Amino acid sequence: MLPIFARRLALAPRPLLLPHRALFSTSRLAASDKLFLHRDTPDNNETLPFEFTAENLARAREIMKKYPPQYKKAATLPLLDLAQRQNGWTSISTMNYIANLLDVPPMRVYEVATFYTMYNREPVGKYFLQLCTTTPCQLCGSDQILDTIKQNLGINVGETTKDKLFTLVEVECAGACVNAPVLAVNDDYFEDLTSEATIKILEELKKGGSPKPGPVSGRQNCEPAGGLTSLTGTPPGPGFRIRADL
Ligand code: FES
Repeated sequence: MLPIFARRLALAPRPLLLPHRALFSTSRLAASDKLFLHRDTPDNNETLPFEFTAENLARAREIMKKYPPQYKKAATLPLLDLAQRQNGWTSISTMNYIANLLDVPPMRVYEVATFYTMYNREPVGKYFLQLCTTTPCQLCGSDQILDTIKQNLGINVGETTKDKLFTLVEVECAGACVNAPVLAVNDDYFEDLTSEATIKILEELKKGGSPKPGPVSGRQNCEPAGGLTSLTGTPPGPGFRIRADL
C-alpha cells in the first residue's frame, strides 16, 4: 500500500508532474552581425607575423609607462588601438603580440578585443564608414543616407567594396545627435548629412580627396540650426543690476 501522499501524486493530472519551466524572456534574442569566435583563415592566423614599427614600439612603451608595472595590462585598449592603426585591423597576431608585450595571457587581450566593437577583427576597407542609425539620426533621415551609400557603393551593411576602398557598418549613437544624421569615415565625422552631400563625400573619397569633415549644412559645429534663440544681445558686463552704492 502506497503512502497517501504518493498515491495522490500518482493520481494527479499529468501536467502537474512535469517540471515547471519559467520563461525569463519574452522578446526575441538580438543576434550580433559580428562573429565572436576566431576561425583561422589564410589572412588571419597565428603564423602571420606582426610587430610594431620602431616608432610605434616607442609610442607603446610611452603608453605603458602611464601605468604601474604590475598593472601593465591597463594599457590593453590603447595598445590594441595602436596595433589596429598600424595593421588596418585587429588580427589574431596583433592580439598575441600585445599580450606578449603586456605580459598577460592572450585570452585577456581576446576578451577586450571581442568586447569593444571599435576593434575590427576582420579586414576593412581603406575608408571605414560607420553610419549611425539610432533614433535621433533615424528621425533626421539616416535611413535615406544608408540607402544612398548602399546604392552608390553597391554594398550592403557589413560588406566591403571589391576595390577594398569602403566598408560599411551601422552603429549605435555616435554621440553627435545634435548634428544628426552622422557618418564617421575613419576618425572624421560628417554631420547634418543629406543624400546629395553623402554622394559628394563618397565621390571625393573615391578620387583620393579629403572632404572637409564636420556639418555639411554650413553651420558652425553644433550651433542652433535655425539661428540663435538666446544670448542674442550684447552681454551687459560687470556690475549689471548691482546697486550703484555697492
Ligand atoms: S543618434 Fe546618431 S549620433 Fe546620436
